[in-house]
Amino acid sequence: MKILVIHGPNLNMLGKRDKSIYGEKTLGEIDALLKKEAQALGVEVVTFQSNHEGSLIDFIQEQSHSAQGIIINPGALTHYGLSLLDALVDSKLPVIEVHLSDIYHREEWRAKSVIAPIAENQIVGSGWRGYIIALQTLTGRLKAKPSR
Ligand code: DQA
Repeated sequence: MKILVIHGPNLNMLGKRDKSIYGEKTLGEIDALLKKEAQALGVEVVTFQSNHEGSLIDFIQEQSHSAQGIIINPGALTHYGLSLLDALVDSKLPVIEVHLSDIYHREEWRAKSVIAPIAENQIVGSGWRGYIIALQTLTGRLKAKPSR
């Protein structure tokens, strides 16, 4: 079983970005923790980060046929990335949306997610652990009821 974990713009800067909001861990450390958890769960995780919406869409189009689910932190594209939303819908895969911070208790513009309506779950404000929760949730669900 293969799960795609996709990180949007500026998430390559984790560890340097405001640590009081996004935490201390780098993206490499988060990806390593995800791969360790994936191993424990007996699933494969393929991670990808880009600062470009088109590259995220290319990745989804190229990879979704061989994957069973998507975990995505779309960064600021969360709030306006409609072509990213379309690519997620077209993938026909279950999607879990993750945010390190609590987007509902920050600036008003962050409280709107264009991705949320098509996501099975949205995990906010749990820092890097949100990705692990997402992986456990998605894996458990897929194992219980394989979608394809
Ligand atoms: C974020 C929240 C977004 O509003 C922001 O633009 C990000 C990160 C989060 O993980 O909390 O880049 O998705």
